[in-house]
Amino acid sequence: MASSFQYLLLLLLLFFFISPSSSAKSSFRPKAFVLPVTKDASTLQYVTQIRQRTPLVPLNLVLDLGGQFLWVDCDQKYSSTTYHPARCKSALCSLADASSCGDCFSPPRPGCNNNTCSVMPDNTVTGTATFGDVGQDVVSVQSTNGFHPGRTVAASRFIFSCASTFLLDGLATGVSGMAGLGRTKIALPSQFASAFSFPRKFAICLASNSKGVVFFGDGPYVLLPDVDAAKFLTHTPLILNPESTASAHSQGQPSSEYFVGVKSIKIDDKVVPKINKKLLSINKEGFGGTKISTVNPYTVLEASIFKAVTQAFIRARNYTRVGGVAPFEVCFSSHNVGSTRLGPAVPTIEFVLQNNVSWSIFGANSVVQVKNNVMCLGVVNGGDKPRTSIVIGGFQLENHLLQFDLASSRLGFSPLLFWRRTTCANFNFTSAA
Ligand SMILES: *[C@@H]1O[C@H](CO)[C@@H](O)[C@H](O)[C@H]1NC(C)=O
Ligand SMILES: *[C@@H]1O[C@H](CO)[C@@H](O)[C@H](O)[C@H]1NC(C)=O
Ligand SMILES: *[C@@H]1O[C@H](CO)[C@@H](O)[C@H](O)[C@H]1NC(C)=O
Ligand SMILES: *[C@@H]1O[C@H](CO)[C@@H](O)[C@H](O)[C@H]1NC(C)=O
Repeated sequence: MASSFQYLLLLLLLFFFISPSSSAKSSFRPKAFVLPVTKDASTLQYVTQIRQRTPLVPLNLVLDLGGQFLWVDCDQKYSSTTYHPARCKSALCSLADASSCGDCFSPPRPGCNNNTCSVMPDNTVTGTATFGDVGQDVVSVQSTNGFHPGRTVAASRFIFSCASTFLLDGLATGVSGMAGLGRTKIALPSQFASAFSFPRKFAICLASNSKGVVFFGDGPYVLLPDVDAAKFLTHTPLILNPESTASAHSQGQPSSEYFVGVKSIKIDDKVVPKINKKLLSINKEGFGGTKISTVNPYTVLEASIFKAVTQAFIRARNYTRVGGVAPFEVCFSSHNVGSTRLGPAVPTIEFVLQNNVSWSIFGANSVVQVKNNVMCLGVVNGGDKPRTSIVIGGFQLENHLLQFDLASSRLGFSPLLFWRRTTCANFNFTSAA
């Protein structure tokens, strides 16, 4: 045994000796990865693409910032020579925080194996969850030096969950699952960080109607014309919600989503009065607080906060209100609204965060032109007693670089990149040959 093993090692060494190109490839240490993100025009979901399986298949996946892990539909067309189910009670199952274990009474295939542990893949758009086998397969992504994409790199045993086809209901056409970037050990950022020894950091930069970008690993995060957006970050602590916000979960599980501490809201530099401070913090049951979400297309405010903010916004310039245009309730005549480099010249909304730093939202991220001469505040009413009081949604995140530093539990956010004469659509996706 020992000698044949040594012989195999020797052969491997020889192999590397005589094929320097593949030896160079195997010793290549990527510094970071990059994924493209586009916005689906009909659902307003942000869709990214990765390649998985052997042979590799490109998969479109809805990007879920707070999602727990990668889940894909394994019922349709999953064929791979490198799929491995996670055996019950294995280290893999505990890493995945798998809640249950079981058998499958159909012919074996990815997503249906005996003695396999399962988790609860969650369609966070519709709030539907189901059981799904934990498995591993090859995932391939592009590395980057921060300026443009480089070599393609494969993670050979990337952990994910299988799901049934019905879990795709409500997701953009052509999508086969969701890519969770949340704060679990098996979400994409932590798996990439541990597999490739990256710092536990990632960044998202969403664009409105062209290709935005997600970076895994540290900066630089360079956008044309040569602007390193990592240089313009302001930091605020990330807050852990001790109670899971997933559609289904076991008790005492913390949330995988990213919360920040909004202390007050200002409009044109004036604090919005009458905001119940209790709603701004997370209570013992995990209600309240402020999270950042890529599955909500627009910011959602609890009813009383919605009322206070929208009133202050309208009154700041005495706008003439007109009827709402779904999903927006607060619309006004845009007849006299000028335009600036930062979008329509409307009042600035400011989230004052922990550390007394402000996230300013200008016209480009606050109002939506719904028709000629009618503009709406791009914020929706979350009703009474929602789980989370403020959900900062996709439209408000666009053209800002947000870096999540998991090791030090803080968020770095850039100002609207238009200030720096660039946008999130400006990553150079042309790879160096
Ligand atoms: C699981 O085991 C049962 C009982 O031995 C068997 O009938 C079934 O076909 C197996 N399922 C799979 C997917 O291997
Ligand atoms: C808005 O209208 C009120 C009452 O008509 C007036 O007192 C106030 O100065 C106006 N504010 C602005 C910003 O035009
Ligand atoms: C917070 O910052 C603002 C402006 O940067 C400043 O005016 C204010 O005094 C600060 N508040 C505290 C409590 O430090
Ligand atoms: C994008 O990157 C490629 C590869 O490095 C380079 O050849 C090209 O000039 C870059 N494009 C721009 C506009 O800088």
